Amino acid sequence: MDIIEKNKTRMAHLSENSAELSKQIEALDWNELKSALNECIFQKEETNLPAEYCPASYFPLTPESTEQKTLYDKAFKHGEVLIRSGKTAAFTVAGGQGTRLGYDGPKGTLPVSPIKKKTLFQLFAEQILGMSKQYEVTIPWYIMCSPLNLEATTIHFEENNYYGLGKENLNFFAQGVMPATDFDGNLLLASQDNLALSPNGHGGSLKALIDSGSITDMAQRGVEHVSYFQVDNPLVSIINPLFIGLHDLQTSDMSSRSLTKTGPFEKLGNFVSTGDRISIIEYSDLPEKKALEKEEDGRIKYRAGSPAIHILRRDFIEQFASGEIKLPYHRAEKKVAHLNKNGDLVTPEKPNAVKFETFVFDALPLAKNPLILEADRLEEFSPVKNKTGIDSLESSRSDQSKRARRWLKKAGYSVNEESIVEISPSTFPSAHDLQGADLQQYDLDSKIIYLGDEIRADE
Ligand code: UTP
Repeated sequence: MDIIEKNKTRMAHLSENSAELSKQIEALDWNELKSALNECIFQKEETNLPAEYCPASYFPLTPESTEQKTLYDKAFKHGEVLIRSGKTAAFTVAGGQGTRLGYDGPKGTLPVSPIKKKTLFQLFAEQILGMSKQYEVTIPWYIMCSPLNLEATTIHFEENNYYGLGKENLNFFAQGVMPATDFDGNLLLASQDNLALSPNGHGGSLKALIDSGSITDMAQRGVEHVSYFQVDNPLVSIINPLFIGLHDLQTSDMSSRSLTKTGPFEKLGNFVSTGDRISIIEYSDLPEKKALEKEEDGRIKYRAGSPAIHILRRDFIEQFASGEIKLPYHRAEKKVAHLNKNGDLVTPEKPNAVKFETFVFDALPLAKNPLILEADRLEEFSPVKNKTGIDSLESSRSDQSKRARRWLKKAGYSVNEESIVEISPSTFPSAHDLQGADLQQYDLDSKIIYLGDEIRADE
């Protein structure tokens, strides 16, 4: 008996006395499970690498020639026109389980700013509000949650009066889930009434945008470009005119920001070129020899790493509607608590199960005319992933404060290196907005400096 039939028979038996389990079995997409099992367990590829590849070229942070300078100026202006005419939307993927951080609640509700302890969601909301004001336009915001955190997320926004953005401009929806199996492909039960289910990876966002009606909503609003970012990076530049402008001028289906890696083995996906397409090779898959290759000037060749910031053309996402174009499944070996044959709950100490996830960056090789624009790590990237150390709440708060001090200095003010500084993204969405601003009302000699007009009545 093949594994799908075997699972069906076993589940039919186990769900005889459980209406809830029957419902979950009925909702299972068996074809999808079959593909996942084939891709990740039965016909597992030896390598995840493209047949041939070389380092991907990218647009540098600052233009390196007069032609490039002219292009950047044109792209910036073009991006501004697109923003002002309502062609861009913000899109956050917030369906992850945040196991490394171990925070009790949706990660977006984590108090993350250095002084006011604003949540990640509030910082994004304020940035969107700031840009909306600047460009006199409504920028809709789509937030993908998982079935596990959708309710808590929507309640959080409701309690915070949608952070001033207007309920009608926010769109919350849940991504799909996939069942976990053991290493032989047998479905696992989390309890007598529940399959062991987990979110199907950030790649699930493309289909979820379609299934939730968000893509239709975007089309009705005239949105053409979707600015994709992860929930954990408070420094992300959500609506970036240069990035949007370059992406549209080059008629790119999907564009990405890159960071210059701190070293050959930094844990970031590597952008590579495969002819006229771009792919990302995960850090764990890039051969050591390749990772160490250097240019004549000493820089590492594979230096463009991915902070997972993209812009996708709405009509590119629509191509995923029919299910003919699909993202591949990746195998993640995890510890999954489950019922054993006797019906007892087992909490394993080592990975015992396979979870099936798709990754959004696997859409890149399908995208026509892709481009990469370098980002400044100090300005745009400081995610909260871990409890302590690198990419933790502490490191991110410190980076936020450092960036705020830099912005003030750039605007011509002297600030004590010891001062903790926070700048409201709704008042000053970018460094540029501080230039020439009247800051007389603020005590810039203080040890704690907060710059911003409040948007919430209770603050
Ligand atoms: P991560 O890879 O950091 O995973 O997700 P995570 O689940 O948040 O955290 P860990 O690995 O358990 O510690 C990167 C981004 O993708 C989103 C996350 O919310 C985060 O914004 N994501 C991840 C989803 O939206 N859905 C998923 O199924 C997985």
